[in-house]
Amino acid sequence: MELRMEAVERRLRELLDETSEPLCAYVYDLEALRRHAAAVTAALPPRCELFYAIKANSDLPVLRTLAPLVAGFEVSSGGELAWVREHFADAPVIFSGPGKTDEELRLAIRSGVEAIHVESLNELRRLAWLANAQGRQAPVLLRMNLSLPGLAATTLMMGGKPTPFGIPADQLPHALHLLRDAPSLRLRGFHFHLLSHQLDAAAHVELIAGYAAQVRDWCREHGLSIDHINVGGGIGVNYREPARQFDLAAFADGLRRLCERDPSLPRLRFECGRYITAACGYYAMQVIDLKHAFGRDYVVARGGTHHFRTPPAQGHSHPFTVLPVEHWPYPWERPALSDATVNVVGQLCTPKDVLAFDAPVTRVRAGDLVVFPFAGAYAWHISHQGFLRHPAPRQEFLPVEDEHAAAE
Ligand SMILES: Cc1ncc(COP(=O)(O)O)c(C=O)c1O
Repeated sequence: MELRMEAVERRLRELLDETSEPLCAYVYDLEALRRHAAAVTAALPPRCELFYAIKANSDLPVLRTLAPLVAGFEVSSGGELAWVREHFADAPVIFSGPGKTDEELRLAIRSGVEAIHVESLNELRRLAWLANAQGRQAPVLLRMNLSLPGLAATTLMMGGKPTPFGIPADQLPHALHLLRDAPSLRLRGFHFHLLSHQLDAAAHVELIAGYAAQVRDWCREHGLSIDHINVGGGIGVNYREPARQFDLAAFADGLRRLCERDPSLPRLRFECGRYITAACGYYAMQVIDLKHAFGRDYVVARGGTHHFRTPPAQGHSHPFTVLPVEHWPYPWERPALSDATVNVVGQLCTPKDVLAFDAPVTRVRAGDLVVFPFAGAYAWHISHQGFLRHPAPRQEFLPVEDEHAAAE
């Protein structure tokens, strides 16, 4: 996970020259994305494959960079499915997500997705009915919710406890009964996505080993034959301590040992989002004002959480760097802070518009740029962009260096 701050800074300075307004921009480093995704896929052992969960960032330049590197795309809505099909007609696609409508399921069947990850018994029934009406057979994975020994909680749990996601394991016999009675459905495997924000490589290997053991038991008990297990996404990004990231080498090593120990293990499919694209994105805000109130220092900058909701969504103070900008157009002394502890806020009329808090800075001045790294996943795409009708940030994509690596 390489941050190439110099290239980003160069582009930001060019943008500053192009605008008279305070700058607010996302910069995505596609070359860093290409290198990182290539490193992840290269690290995976045989019989393991990586799909990209496009909900993390579905911008076309991002998808075009990833398309030649990943095994396919995971989508979680009819909108995402249509988007991928429009631009990558032949890419393998898998369809997850709760609350799928009949129209979305019809689209999935019609457009030949590789697998539909079914979330409930009622969804299974509807899918069978809709596939039957189209005279087709739909490939199915059952998304399961279960608690496994050793399942350590992260800050974002989708399973192992009461949640709306997946089929609770005690309902599996019922689901299998429905599948046996539905020739329009074909069971291909099981799907798990119990958590996100996993930062511990060994714990993640253990979790996947737990999925594999559970699936082996189910197959034996119910006489099932499956061709793969989807082990979800969930590899985390350490926003709080950016120098301590998920240990990919240790993870790949543990995974390889798991696969070697059990040659009968079905193919393992990953559908990662955050870990793939977070590090390629930067959100930059130009400082408009510095304020001191009730003993606290505030850096008020162009933009806010309506562009970059990641910090409040995850409850962290996002790391940032200050890029000095020398231009100061006003005939009075420039507001500045040195060796201070600041809160970085945006332009929204809510005290929740906080991107970083209690953050030490060596120096920050009105007119400088505050740049947040790790803003390439669940950032612009999860933000409430219309709030207050502020202008959208610039969206800049630094190209891949080897043009042949990016193809639609
Ligand atoms: C079903 C499913 N798969 C994959 C992902 C991607 O997770 P992450 O971005 O943590 O890798 C999500 C995220 O919510 C998800 O719900």
